[in-house]
Amino acid sequence: MEAKAKTSKPTAEKSTTKTPAKKSAAKDLMDLFEDSLKDIYWAEKALAKALPKMQKNATDEKLQSAIENHIVETEEHIVRLEQCFEALGKKAQAKKCDAMQGLLDEGKSIMEETEPGAVRDSGIVAAAQKVEHYEIATYGTLAAFAKVLKEDECMNILLMTLNEEKNCNELLTKLADTNINSQAVEA
Ligand SMILES: [Fe+2]
Ligand SMILES: [Fe+2]
Repeated sequence: MEAKAKTSKPTAEKSTTKTPAKKSAAKDLMDLFEDSLKDIYWAEKALAKALPKMQKNATDEKLQSAIENHIVETEEHIVRLEQCFEALGKKAQAKKCDAMQGLLDEGKSIMEETEPGAVRDSGIVAAAQKVEHYEIATYGTLAAFAKVLKEDECMNILLMTLNEEKNCNELLTKLADTNINSQAVEA
């Protein structure tokens, strides 16, 4: 482990050198846009599979129903991304999103590291909010790309999803602040 950590430590020289591009690197912003759509398409699909488990692990009824509601929305986000690909005249393709995989792994370990009840609920909210923040950042960026690329149909679709991610995040904040965290502190 130590040796590995030592070799992966960035040196001053390396950090000032530009990263060489892969052969498959994006040629332009449209390429980067399409690549990013493939990433979030994978991410939404992975999330749709993971959310039911988070819902089952939640104890607070309001948290359960917030997650249930977001499962329905997430399924819709997948459909909307397919509409985006269609608007671009491209086949919908998923490309593994390491960031979402990491966030979902973290959510899984939070559940393993807590007893069911108020403390686990606080952990579930934390994990879910990290996911929502990731989605907010992603959809915000994608909508901005679509705007400059003059892909208005895509932009409108992406903005619709962005709003739902923001609303979900706000609801989670509200649930944590009004009830869940204070119950966890007494548990
Ligand atoms: Fe989503
Ligand atoms: Fe979401």
